[in-house]
Amino acid sequence: MSFAIRASVLHCLRDPGLSGDTRAVQCLRDAIVLVRNGKFELVGDAAQIAPQLGDDIRVFDHRDKFLLPGFIDTHVHFPQVDVIASYGAQLLEWLEKYTFPEETKFVDEAHAAQTARFFLDRLLENGTTTASVFCTVHPESVNAFFSESEARGLRMIAGKCLMDRNAPDGLRDCAQSGVGESRELIERWHHHQRSLYAITPRFAATSSEAQMQSMGELAREFPDTYIQSHVAENKAEIEWIAKLFPSHRSYLDVYDAYGLLRDKAIYAHCIYLDDTDRARMTATGATPSFCPTSNLFIGSGLYNLEQALAAGNRVSIGSDVGGGTSYSLLRTLSEAYKVQQLQGISLSPAYALYLATLGGARALSLDDKLGSIEVGKEADFVLLDPNATPVLARRSALRDDPLDMFFAWMTLGDDRMVAATYANGRCVSQRTN
Ligand code: GUN
Ligand code: ZN
Repeated sequence: MSFAIRASVLHCLRDPGLSGDTRAVQCLRDAIVLVRNGKFELVGDAAQIAPQLGDDIRVFDHRDKFLLPGFIDTHVHFPQVDVIASYGAQLLEWLEKYTFPEETKFVDEAHAAQTARFFLDRLLENGTTTASVFCTVHPESVNAFFSESEARGLRMIAGKCLMDRNAPDGLRDCAQSGVGESRELIERWHHHQRSLYAITPRFAATSSEAQMQSMGELAREFPDTYIQSHVAENKAEIEWIAKLFPSHRSYLDVYDAYGLLRDKAIYAHCIYLDDTDRARMTATGATPSFCPTSNLFIGSGLYNLEQALAAGNRVSIGSDVGGGTSYSLLRTLSEAYKVQQLQGISLSPAYALYLATLGGARALSLDDKLGSIEVGKEADFVLLDPNATPVLARRSALRDDPLDMFFAWMTLGDDRMVAATYANGRCVSQRTN
């Protein structure tokens, strides 16, 4: 299966840094991208690539659009599709009042499958092609999720929540069953097609010391899997963790002590880490997922990108739906920009682009496969329409500078800009109006 697309290509070739070294960003204003068997085979200026295409290659003309790497959402909950936009609570109350009751429904595989379909349709219509996804405590929710994501040919990371305390009936496993079920799911799904498995402690408050111990052992047994959890999101949560695990120096230290910090370990929020914690993240390879819409909506706090990057953390970005309020990583970047503005920090458009693409791929150790439009990488990409709305069209035409345009797109854009999304070299979502 091969075809070519003629469009402008915009992507990062390396880390531009927070202030945005524009040399890290490449824009090819009239490019051709040849896709064959799910990978990029040729990428370059149209004048140079066109003569290399065989007569049998169909070239789709999207010269009015920009081709970008598929967006990478490093923290999101598919069972929280119906939790989004829940009024009036901060984290611990929000979990009890809205989230836990909703998640109990996922014992039903049909409900899980239907919700996974809805969720994946939303990710794809927003241009997100890879995500690190929380399922519920129920193994059925994981089976439903990966069945649906594999049917679409997606590279997805997901895992069953482990939680054996401080959660309602119907939403707890135990130290033994939690790792037993996780092991079976790893054997079934990890590296099956494009699926990757994440060992998923919900957060330290919902796991006993015995479960923390058994998850650490599981992580050592499967050193190649992902780990995903939450840390240092909310002040009341942090006080509670200090009571539950009194002998630990910090919240992050709880995960550290049980062997849950390493490469491919993604920790959502990380708002209230200190210098020692940030240094531990860098030393172990664990990475923070910055979730601005969630942090604002649940009232958790302001994540400081400057401190994280100064410590060498590989930051990425997460929608955190349903604590977060948008599936769109463009909307999420816009809120990320504002969260930094409130702290006197300017998030450059180049770094914003990086966060949602190559930076996400690097945080997930998938940058050999994803995150940029380079020969040999997996053909996951989006076509963005700068003329999707009158406001976007007028603002995009103002200056002939691709990064200035990208800044306008993340500030003003959403799913209406995403003309089409491709995964594994196939069109998986197309906007019809
Ligand atoms: N901490 C533990 N569980 C959750 C969750 O579902 N969402 C958020 N935002 N934080 C959590
Ligand atoms: Zn979350």
